[in-house]
Amino acid sequence: MLCRGEGLLGSLTAVLVAALALSRSPALSGLLTAGLYLALHLFSLEPAAPQSAQRVLRPRGSAAARIAHRGGAHDAPENTLAAIRQAAENGATGVELDVEFTADGVPILMHDETVERTTDGTGRLRDLTFEEIRRLDPSAKHRLRSKFQGEKVPTLREAVVESMHHNLIIYFDVKGHANQAVDALKQLYLEFPSLYNSSIVCSFMPDVVYKMRQADRNVVTALTHRPWQLSHFGDGTPRFNSSWKHYLYMILDVILDWSLHSFLWRLCGVSAFLIQKNFVSQDYVRHWSSKGIQVVAWTVNTFAEKSYYESVLESNYITDSLVEDCDPHY
Ligand SMILES: *[C@@H]1O[C@H](CO)[C@@H](O)[C@H](O)[C@H]1NC(C)=O
Ligand SMILES: *[C@@H]1O[C@H](CO)[C@@H](O)[C@H](O)[C@H]1NC(C)=O
Repeated sequence: MLCRGEGLLGSLTAVLVAALALSRSPALSGLLTAGLYLALHLFSLEPAAPQSAQRVLRPRGSAAARIAHRGGAHDAPENTLAAIRQAAENGATGVELDVEFTADGVPILMHDETVERTTDGTGRLRDLTFEEIRRLDPSAKHRLRSKFQGEKVPTLREAVVESMHHNLIIYFDVKGHANQAVDALKQLYLEFPSLYNSSIVCSFMPDVVYKMRQADRNVVTALTHRPWQLSHFGDGTPRFNSSWKHYLYMILDVILDWSLHSFLWRLCGVSAFLIQKNFVSQDYVRHWSSKGIQVVAWTVNTFAEKSYYESVLESNYITDSLVEDCDPHY
């Protein structure tokens, strides 16, 4: 986004010029660029079949899909079975769910690495066993807690079964633990083959997406991105106080953004690109569409924005609420 539109040729030219400037050796630079080009071809994964991608990304024909963020964190306690049921009742096309693991390796739904924000417990997820997690109340801090009593943190499998029961598309958001997550998801696709037609694996981490598609080429995937994510938090405040660190991470942000837009999407064979809504324009949607990739924006939380996505951009969006305007949950 920060520097897109050049395509592969432009990117390779940039590499060639940079290598020339640094090494001052045409032979070395040429070899490096050709090597990169070859590696990209050798290691790139073919994207999932366009028909499967279409079934997942446009399940209701051409209409923009409305995806409930963490199951719809404003309308019900996030990442719970109640949220999935509520999203279905509110007319969502699908749900976005966060895949995490307990200390004893059970795949569950949770967004943070600690349990404080979303439950009545304390501590880091990786220090808590499934049994301990199961005793926590994921509704404890939600604004509608009185309406959602007796909820438990669900296992990934329980959440999948609930979503399938309500005919919802699932956007699995995987934050890390690439190998563990790929194993867990692979099991689910084996057990429920209809997921190939109704779910997409999404991650900020290209290695998660790459490993998922290496494990199973039929899985539809997406890369998730927020420009300046390494140097800034979701609300725009800088992550680092020291200025050299701040600028270093801003440079890394530019490199990451360039890599995602120029070759990582191709390497991973993704079918969609999930991007923070402030960076989406008609041009941007067209740019990806010309490559056969769909743009999904997050998180689109006001009525005016939703109608823009539905009628002008005709793109899918992820929202915290299906029923009213609300502040974003970062
Ligand atoms: C996916 O949907 C297509 C078309 O409806 C169907 O032919 C195919 O069997 C489905 N695949 C799975 C794994 O359910
Ligand atoms: C950065 O500065 C703010 C206020 O100046 C302080 O509250 C915060 O703890 C600092 N963060 C780090 C990582 O040092």
